Amino acid sequence: MIAILGAGSMGRLWAAMLPAGQVAFVPRPGQMPDPVCYRFQAIEGKSLSVTIPWLQPGQSPELLLVTTKAGDTLEALKDALPSIASSTPIVLFQNGLGSQQQVSETWPQRPVLAASTTEGANRPAPGLTVHAGCGATWVGALNPTGQPLVNRVAQQLAKSGLEVHPEQDILGRLWQKLVINAGINAFTAILDCPNGAILKQPYYQQWINPLCEEISRLLAAAGQPQQTPEALRESIEAVARKTAANTSSMRADVLTGRPTEIDFINGYLARLGQQHGIATPVNQMLTEQVQQLN
Ligand SMILES: NC(=O)c1ccc[n+]([C@@H]2O[C@H](COP(=O)([O-])OP(=O)(O)OC[C@H]3O[C@@H](n4cnc5c(N)ncnc54)[C@H](OP(=O)(O)O)[C@@H]3O)[C@@H](O)[C@H]2O)c1
Repeated sequence: MIAILGAGSMGRLWAAMLPAGQVAFVPRPGQMPDPVCYRFQAIEGKSLSVTIPWLQPGQSPELLLVTTKAGDTLEALKDALPSIASSTPIVLFQNGLGSQQQVSETWPQRPVLAASTTEGANRPAPGLTVHAGCGATWVGALNPTGQPLVNRVAQQLAKSGLEVHPEQDILGRLWQKLVINAGINAFTAILDCPNGAILKQPYYQQWINPLCEEISRLLAAAGQPQQTPEALRESIEAVARKTAANTSSMRADVLTGRPTEIDFINGYLARLGQQHGIATPVNQMLTEQVQQLN
């Protein structure tokens, strides 16, 4: 049995794709409502009806996938973990950085892994989950207890039929995604435009170089491979062009009045700068402007 904490877009994607009958959602404390029923639209357009039960008291999952938003993850796990065996691997799917460290520091004895995925899922209407983008998922250990379990967990996730790879440097992969998100998401939310449209906006053009200079210094301070500000800007703009028509999750969150993950993207970079004595005025400004949109 694979348990999933967070019955949102990502959680419902994995629940629908993993073998039927082997998945359950973790309920909030005191909640044991009816099973979760939804239509799932697969990537090729085929639609199927999915029913996922809630994890029952006494059931012990062999794996826990955590698909809450970064800002909800620590509290959700504080509620869920007391009834889950301490040997059960925890796989964190959150974007950005900061929430993963909170979890591995709070439960150092538990096997904690992280997944970085380019799969995309959304819920355009109540009761409908759409597999909107086909990609790949990398899974790796965040602490030594998780290390021996990486291959096994990757194999369990691959039973979904999605492309899954074990990753020895998951922190590096999370950093790569963070850099791209830090250079695109806040701009799309503030400018209220799709990814590709930021590139021609004076506000983006004013701030992207100083932002990339901050990120370049932070990468070095965090022990990540050095990248010049110019190379960072090129990577960010290549993704913005490739995903030109997409609405970022941050813009979508602002448009629907949901909390964004800014505190775990540019906000994380600003906090890291404070720790290392590196000035991060652009990350701080983007964080505050997105917080004001909320
Ligand atoms: N969707 C994607 O395509 C995608 C791609 C890559 C990475 N990610 C990452 O995956 C994470 C989840 O994204 P998402 O799009 O799936 O978000 P989402 O649709 O908002 O789903 C999060 C789910 O967590 C639930 N939740 C919150 N607190 C909880 C708690 N204490 N106990 C149990 N459930 C709780 C929420 O329930 P309520 O709605 O009732 O609050 C919601 O159903 C994010 O960090 C995101 O960045 C998503």
